[in-house]
Amino acid sequence: MSPFAINRLAGCVLLLGITACGIEEVEGFERLYHRHCAVCHGGDLQGAAQGTPLVGIDLGYGDGIDNIARSIAAGMPDRGMPSWSETLSETEIRSVAIFISEERANTTFGDFRIETPLVVPTDAVRTSLHDFRLELVADGLDPLPYAIAPLPDGRILLTEKMRGLTVVSAAGEQSELVPGAPVGHGGAVQFGPLQYGNGWVLDVTLHPDYADNRWIYLSYGDRCEDCAAQSRRGPASMTKLVRGRLRDGTWTDQETVFEVDKAFYNSATDMATGGRICFDGAGHVFLSLGMKAGQRPVQRLDQPDGKIHRMRDDGRVPEDNPFVDQPDAFPTIWTLGHRSPHGLEFNPQTGELWSTEMGPRGGDEINRLIPGGNYGWPLTSKGVHYNGRPVDGRGLGVDFDPDDLEPPVVDLTPSVAVSSFVFYDGDAFPGWHHHALVGSLKGSDLVRFVFEDGQEVERETLIEDLARIRDIETGPGGVIYLLLEHASGGQIVRMTPEAEEAGA
Ligand code: HEC
Repeated sequence: MSPFAINRLAGCVLLLGITACGIEEVEGFERLYHRHCAVCHGGDLQGAAQGTPLVGIDLGYGDGIDNIARSIAAGMPDRGMPSWSETLSETEIRSVAIFISEERANTTFGDFRIETPLVVPTDAVRTSLHDFRLELVADGLDPLPYAIAPLPDGRILLTEKMRGLTVVSAAGEQSELVPGAPVGHGGAVQFGPLQYGNGWVLDVTLHPDYADNRWIYLSYGDRCEDCAAQSRRGPASMTKLVRGRLRDGTWTDQETVFEVDKAFYNSATDMATGGRICFDGAGHVFLSLGMKAGQRPVQRLDQPDGKIHRMRDDGRVPEDNPFVDQPDAFPTIWTLGHRSPHGLEFNPQTGELWSTEMGPRGGDEINRLIPGGNYGWPLTSKGVHYNGRPVDGRGLGVDFDPDDLEPPVVDLTPSVAVSSFVFYDGDAFPGWHHHALVGSLKGSDLVRFVFEDGQEVERETLIEDLARIRDIETGPGGVIYLLLEHASGGQIVRMTPEAEEAGA
């Protein structure tokens, strides 16, 4: 039996972050549809005698989650579509609308595509600004890799969550685990052979002055075996950031850049923590630390999780961080209210920090991060909880004004499980300069976004249905590397420009 035979359930946990997710809840959305709508629109949404198809056609009353919800709520009573605003709650309407848009986008909730056959196209891929080819660099990696960092000499640093740090040669051969570097652990939640870790190795990134100082930054769930007071369920962990150097293949000179008191360690998995690292080129390093101990700490300044943290590159606290003067606040906090921030990048063109984060069911986001900004989790989201409940901060005891919460620049509903991204600034694809290339797990796509003044002005899918894209990096010469997750083994593939046709 494939080790991923239980991926439907396990994948659910993967997206959820820290709470177990039952298939029943997943089907709740569908049940609502079948109870109220299938009679007219058909069990497969293909339409029936009394109702129009809801998939495979352009919608007459507008696509997208907000339009669909509006159609359902208001109905078209004189044309045979009842109004549902009296019968169904706002959340139920939104849930059904999410279900319909998932079906329209062919991203069935619960299908995490880790077993979908992975075929790297051999033909050139044609897109509006650049044509390119995909080439396999390395395969047979752990099915759940996390990050890559291309080195100037053509080798690639690679982290695998459950294992640790390795080096992939230019010829695609993977080394043994780098001795001396932090190692990965599973074990917090286990479904069959899959373990959802507590002590995962997360991101790896080179310092911007790597050529001179050789610093490599590594984030991981630091595992504590004897934090029994905090952890009734075995070992505990919390995201930690270190830097070190590779000397003769060994991890040396390790220094701690970000670490919190053991009192904040807990036994929840490192699944939603993100752990993404980026630099602003002005001596600061940023670390994303998502939901780790449930929702409540995410809005609290005296708790480290649900935040983006900003440090000097040696770990000192910058004096101009937004909450340094606030007693009890973590002085490293840059922004708060983050759920599952799996992408973090600095845009050198505008000097802004951007992030991607996974929402619950719906509500994946691309955010522009303003110092001190509150990104709203779990007070509000364009998605709904997995059980269909609304994301509603009332009842959490947090005082907030919805106008003070920063809305996403891009709302990706239905969820594609948005992962990592880059602001491209390499030489191989000059037409894409300063565009964001954004990957997704469930969506399995690579999408190019153009932003102007914090607004999306252009979007193009560059690669469709490839595989779960976990990480994207630009390598020497501006070549783009993608890190793919797959049940049969992770892969690294490379995007290289396709030479223009003669005479073109
Ligand atoms: C009694 C039959 C009937 C039922 C029950 C019904 N619908 Fe409809 N629905 C229709 C018809 C007919 C239309 C097309 C109206 C038109 O073309 O003007 C429609 C239109 C729609 C549209 C707009 C489609 C478009 O092209 O923009 C949506 C969305 C929709 N229905 C969703 C639902 C949902 C969700 C439910 C269940 C909560 C539901 N409907 C229940 C008959 C029905």
